[in-house]
Amino acid sequence: MGLSFDGEKESRNVLKVENLSVARSGSIVVEGVNIEIGEGEFVGLVGPNGSGKTTLLLTILGLLKPVPVMGGRVLVYGKESLSRGDLVKIGWVPQAAANLPKHIRITVRELVRLGTLNVKNMFWPIDSGRSEKVEKALEMVGLVELAATDVSKLSGGQLQRAVIARALASEADFLLLDEPLVGVDLASRNSLLKLLDDLCHEENKTVLMVSHDVTAITQAAHRIIYLEGSVRFDGPSEEIPDFSSLAGLRGIRHVHGYERHHGH
Ligand SMILES: Nc1ncnc2c1ncn2[C@@H]1O[C@H](COP(=O)(O)OP(=O)(O)O)[C@@H](O)[C@H]1O
Ligand SMILES: [Mg+2]
Repeated sequence: MGLSFDGEKESRNVLKVENLSVARSGSIVVEGVNIEIGEGEFVGLVGPNGSGKTTLLLTILGLLKPVPVMGGRVLVYGKESLSRGDLVKIGWVPQAAANLPKHIRITVRELVRLGTLNVKNMFWPIDSGRSEKVEKALEMVGLVELAATDVSKLSGGQLQRAVIARALASEADFLLLDEPLVGVDLASRNSLLKLLDDLCHEENKTVLMVSHDVTAITQAAHRIIYLEGSVRFDGPSEEIPDFSSLAGLRGIRHVHGYERHHGH
């Protein structure tokens, strides 16, 4: 019989970050972070430039490691090191993912199809299972009509949708997006946020999205995490303190941050 140590929750735990500290080039940039995210949640990760948002995402992906002596760890789907089977559940949409090289001519469908590529099927012709995933992903992001269009013809918002579709085609259940709103006009921004919200509600996807556009993300995400070296706020979007009081925290923080980085 399987034992459950945490006790069964209503929604499955997707991410558990425990007492995490991460160093880059010898300086601690993320410290004592605790975060739990359940299936179907849409979480916005905000904070000023250099506050450790990308670092946190890269650590969740396993590309950066916790500082060993500080005892922190990251569990994704309950596991500390992901097997290949678990890795496909994570869809990574990196910062500036939509900045595709201009000289590459590729259609939207081809771009999305890249999401289904893996070491096992690389040299095999596209099978119906893979095509199906591609078409479903195109449908989910609303790009069916533009599937045969060259990606260079897309607007910023459409390109972000295409990049999200690429992650969805890999069958990712947990989407990590780093600044997907940059370079996206206001109308597309709203429809992109609506898309992510729908993916959570209708497809039970889990989304962790970084943005420094606090206003936009607060309107869309159910929950906001404000990171600045450590977690300063984690709660419902409507309870986020106003920006001036966060700026106050920031002022205090800089003094401490400076000591920590430079004082020995
Ligand atoms: N490759 C790197 N090597 C060393 N330090 C880095 C590197 N990338 C980022 N940093 C530093 O780590 C801190 C957090 O950066 P980052 O996670 O990129 O912040 P954010 O995504 O919130 O803007 C910053 O002080 C930044 O200068
Ligand atoms: Mg960043």
